[in-house]
Amino acid sequence: MSTYVSPAIRCALTQSVLRSWCKSRRHVVVCGSLTSHHGTRNRSTAAEEAKPFHRYLDASDAATEDILARDMIIHEDFLSAEEEKSLLDEVEPYMKRLRYEHDHWDDAIHGYRETERRKWNERNMTILQRVKDLAFPPGTPQLAYIHILDISKEGYIKPHVDAVRFCGNTIAGLNLLSSAVMKLVHEKDKDRFASILLRQRSLYIMKDSARYDYTHEVLPESQSRFRGQVIPRDRRMSIICRNEPLPEHTSDS
Ligand code: OGA
Ligand code: MN
Repeated sequence: MSTYVSPAIRCALTQSVLRSWCKSRRHVVVCGSLTSHHGTRNRSTAAEEAKPFHRYLDASDAATEDILARDMIIHEDFLSAEEEKSLLDEVEPYMKRLRYEHDHWDDAIHGYRETERRKWNERNMTILQRVKDLAFPPGTPQLAYIHILDISKEGYIKPHVDAVRFCGNTIAGLNLLSSAVMKLVHEKDKDRFASILLRQRSLYIMKDSARYDYTHEVLPESQSRFRGQVIPRDRRMSIICRNEPLPEHTSDS
């Protein structure tokens, strides 16, 4: 297992901490093992095609399919092109000043730059509120800072599980600029996995078992396939809302 610390933040790490944001920003991710990639099965029967989630979910087994149909929800076309542009217009001036990090010592994300933002213009606040209203039940305490992760065309995110100490049961991500394939692999049984097609302007809501029991990764261009079809990868930006860690995960021990 390797360890990754966001460039902005050099927190003290334990060996188990792989991905980390600043403690004060309460944003740390613990990664699972960095395993080899599995191929995705390319199967389709009439019965399976009747399941609408087959458009974006391709699971290795029935149990994984049941779990992820419930806990990994994709809203395709969540953003209009205008809304995508509005978000980018606000974020780009800052993002463009950062350089992509390559070959970082921990090697958990390749070719990325990232930031966090609390204040948004009114239009974008409305868009993000729509994300939150879908992702979180009323009254769910949420992280005030929204995470923005930009990976270059060559960039990718290796398998990890976000740290339970620093974020709660739900991770909601907008997928901007490019389609991408996310892969989920069961932490305890690497033969159970799924590919998730994240189209440009879609929203994913990863929660509960999908968030805790499966590692997630965003595949590099060379592996970017869904049901046998090549999914072209370009520079891709995600805007990610998370909820506060659950009380049972925030003890100091
Ligand atoms: C992360 C992560 C996924 C994404 O930042 O921990 O997994 O959609 N991001 O960018
Ligand atoms: Mn993650």
